[in-house]
Amino acid sequence: MNQMNQIALRNKFNEVFKKTKLYFFAPGRVNLIGEHTDYNGGHVFPCALSFGTHVVLCKRDDRKIRLHSLNLAHQGIIETDLDHVAFHREQDWANYPLGVLHVMQNRGYNIDQGFEMLFWGNIPAGAGLSSSASIELATAVALNTAFQLNIPQIELVKMGQEAENKFVGMNCGIMDQFASGMGKEDHAILLDCNTLQYEYVPLNLKGISIVIINSNKKHSLVNSGYNDRRRESENALKALQTKLPIKALGELSIEEFEKHKDLIKDPIEQKRAKHAVYENQRTLQATECLRKGDVETFGKLMNQSHISLRDDYEVSCPELDVIAETAWTVPGVLGARMTGGGFGGSAVALVKDSAVKQLIDTVGKTYTQKTGLKADFYIAKIGGPARQMEKIY
Ligand code: GLA
Repeated sequence: MNQMNQIALRNKFNEVFKKTKLYFFAPGRVNLIGEHTDYNGGHVFPCALSFGTHVVLCKRDDRKIRLHSLNLAHQGIIETDLDHVAFHREQDWANYPLGVLHVMQNRGYNIDQGFEMLFWGNIPAGAGLSSSASIELATAVALNTAFQLNIPQIELVKMGQEAENKFVGMNCGIMDQFASGMGKEDHAILLDCNTLQYEYVPLNLKGISIVIINSNKKHSLVNSGYNDRRRESENALKALQTKLPIKALGELSIEEFEKHKDLIKDPIEQKRAKHAVYENQRTLQATECLRKGDVETFGKLMNQSHISLRDDYEVSCPELDVIAETAWTVPGVLGARMTGGGFGGSAVALVKDSAVKQLIDTVGKTYTQKTGLKADFYIAKIGGPARQMEKIY
């Protein structure tokens, strides 16, 4: 029997005995500007990446769930069943897919058969490029398709966030799941996190690259100051609400904020609110610049965003500061800033193609000299949303 016949026979066997494996992909994201604005009811401007999480799913005839990752820390098969889906620390990364399943079960969706899922991701873990949101969205799309649940993609996005908030315990906003679930090739998404209205903005970046610089200082937002920042922002909002009829910091213009900021008595909370308000306005301005092709101003706004995250919101770290500040000195770099939650992870830079090599040389060398760590550089390709890929038998 030749090779082709063997494969055809195996495919037929799997088809007849219902061993069809469904294959899905969900991207990571890079946020160009609009950081820590999502849970403050402001705007964000992320894009989906061409790398992310790949998942293969096969249904079972019983109620068992078996999950395995080819690249994440836990090397074994994580087993549970449909009647005992709960958070356990030792389930490690599998808490993300199980969280999504749990949210679906709570909402009454009928998942009545067990399944096996194999995960493989090419987002560096801890790089702040939303590997967890991509696992959540890959799972959500996989379960939605396999069990014919007909859930609209935007609801899958919300379920991913709910899994992360309530099951995993990380109080994130909607940006990462939204970018992974709703991304569009060669476009960034301007998302109003207050209303979830969004617009795709084409990235007409002729001769300019989006470069992601991974500090390799791993961040873990569950244990970082992320939840503290949320609390501080909420306190600032409450103080403003004593006089202003607002529901979120994102509703304020810079003038309104400056006029009323002294209602926030705690100086730290006032700085947090300042960042949220200014960053939201910067994001709107940056998007307008991009539409007009004014990438120079877009870059300057990215730099201002970094400074605000460093000094007012205090979510940067020495490693990300070295990367951004060194990048600013390289001719041909239009802008550079930390991206994502912060406290480690990655920076993003807008760089003339002719200057990319210089950026990598200069930032690479200085970074290692100053921190002893090695940075990794990727030219970002902007890809599509979480989706089903071709079937595998
Ligand atoms: C993390 C969160 C997002 C967002 C960013 C900061 O990535 O998951 O919801 O808050 O940090 O902009």
